[in-house]
Amino acid sequence: MTAKDLVGNHIETLKPYVPGKPIEELKRELGVENPIKLASNENPLGPSPRAMAAIEAALPDLHIYPDGAAHHMVGAVSEYHDVTPQEVINGNGSDELLTIAVRTFCEFGQDSAVISKHSFAAYGIRCQSHNLNIKWVATDEGLKYDLQAMAEAIDETTKITFIANPNNPTGTYVNADELRRFLKAIPDHVVVLVDEAYHDYVEADDYASALEMRDIHERLIVTRTLSKCYGMAGARIGYGIANEEIINRMNRVREPFNSNSLAQVALSEALADREFVERSVAVNREGRAVLESGLADLGLEWIPSQTNFLLVKMPVDGRQIYDAMLRKGVILRPMAGYGLPKWLRISLAEREKMERCVDSLREVLTEVAS
Ligand SMILES: Cc1ncc(COP(=O)(O)O)c(C=O)c1O
Repeated sequence: MTAKDLVGNHIETLKPYVPGKPIEELKRELGVENPIKLASNENPLGPSPRAMAAIEAALPDLHIYPDGAAHHMVGAVSEYHDVTPQEVINGNGSDELLTIAVRTFCEFGQDSAVISKHSFAAYGIRCQSHNLNIKWVATDEGLKYDLQAMAEAIDETTKITFIANPNNPTGTYVNADELRRFLKAIPDHVVVLVDEAYHDYVEADDYASALEMRDIHERLIVTRTLSKCYGMAGARIGYGIANEEIINRMNRVREPFNSNSLAQVALSEALADREFVERSVAVNREGRAVLESGLADLGLEWIPSQTNFLLVKMPVDGRQIYDAMLRKGVILRPMAGYGLPKWLRISLAEREKMERCVDSLREVLTEVAS
């Protein structure tokens, strides 16, 4: 008997999540000097200094289990969003909240999920690991969610659907009217999880958080993360907001110590540090302008983005460019796993990193062309 015989087909055929290549790994493999990572949409400024100070102050208590109810953190989130503590759930990153939602509301091996193609890979992985029947819905020609087709794909077996707004890996967003219309069309038995990991970067006037639409659909869960604009990806901290009944059920599934004590104390400081968030957004805006201008110069096509990354189309297979960029010490993110083999995702960062990325791309594209 092998491990293969111990698992169901849903596990055997599951393709694991492939994260961005760590800088240390590239150094080990290729011995590249001074590499830069533009592969995981991390904040190039590091964490908020206030969050770091809170973590340092909490270190002597590391031998004590975290507060299982995450009282302090939940309180900070409820204050920040003006909701009750009973409407908040803490996560080990927002990723964990997707898992909790699937495990709480979907019957293993029975229910179905509606997921857009080219949206965050974790949705499909979580649903397949719970042996759900997944209905994949095509995006429109601009790689944007086709919300009407998603609503039409929902039937009586559907228990959950996911909207990343804005979306990873495309950087596209659905506007407030589109999202409202979608939520109105969704029947009561379906949980709609709106994943707002990139919310703080959005500048489009017609965007609105789903937190403003909680009265439209009762089974709405909105998730946020501290991994992006707040610079705390390594701390693994995120949260979800939904009505009390939904949160109550999710808390039954949540592990008691899912959010570590350092991340919990850092969250309130990070949320309060608006100066840091503003600086992060400004650096991101400048990085986007520099990268877009470089890409235009190189004659490359990209998708307009409301996030901290750009999805860029390569003239040849993206993997070829990705490998060549690694040799120049620039880590990008290949997109074949998302069904976009010609595209690469480039995280935005400070001007110098964007310029280095464009210079390296220019060299690589010239090498490829010759
Ligand atoms: C759309 C989206 N949702 C959620 C996450 C996961 O964030 P976290 O680090 O909070 O688990 C990511 C991370 O890349 C993401 O792109």
